[in-house]
Amino acid sequence: MKSAEIRSAFLEYFRENGHEVVPSSSLVPHDDPTLLFANAGMNQFKETFLGREQRTYRRATSSQKCVRAGGKHNDLENVGYTARHHTFFEMLGNFSFGDYFKHDAIRFAWTFLTEKLQLPIELLCVTVYESDGEAYNIWLNEIGVAAENIIRIGDNKGAPYASDNFWQMGDTGPCGPCTEIFYDHGDHIWGGRPGTPEEDGDRFIEIWNIVFMQYNRQLDGVMKPLPKPSVDTGMGLERISAIMQGGHSNYD
Ligand code: ALA
Repeated sequence: MKSAEIRSAFLEYFRENGHEVVPSSSLVPHDDPTLLFANAGMNQFKETFLGREQRTYRRATSSQKCVRAGGKHNDLENVGYTARHHTFFEMLGNFSFGDYFKHDAIRFAWTFLTEKLQLPIELLCVTVYESDGEAYNIWLNEIGVAAENIIRIGDNKGAPYASDNFWQMGDTGPCGPCTEIFYDHGDHIWGGRPGTPEEDGDRFIEIWNIVFMQYNRQLDGVMKPLPKPSVDTGMGLERISAIMQGGHSNYD
């Protein structure tokens, strides 16, 4: 599949499932002094997550142009060293503003990958935030992922909520625990599963991050609950295209 076909298949899948297809916002946010460039699909929905802006829809999908070359999400130092990082890329996403939550978010992602794109289940593994027993049980009991392929990740970056499985837009703003789906590119490539010392290698590549937006982080670190639990997801178009085109490096 060409990347343009993957993008359309993604947007169409979520449109069929009741999502409004929203164009990418400008790379330069107009109204958010906390951001120099758009760094995630959820940026343009920040005020909606925070309950300060009402939209005519409660589900949305987009393919957002992103730059991660500074600030909270900075991939600049990885570019040139890994097969999977860019400074400029496109993020496919689906969003729920107080509508569906963990069950549907997980099911939508799994169905898209394993049925629409037909990725082999045996090449996928997932992570959950250590204390998120609900997400763990959905993967295990509803989706049927084997326990050995569900990895719990705690606060592994030296502070409370500083974790690969707790996503924060920035030092302030919407955030919450997340679950991630990884693809195994094969044992000819160096790298280990998430949570192992070799996790930074290019063998197991994170393809989809599903964030359960629940808090608005304040400058002093206090986590204020959002008005409604919501969903924010992101899948790198270049990463899923590499897989669908039988490649390994996004640059190929
Ligand atoms: N906002 C989440 C991310 O960028 C989905 O990973």
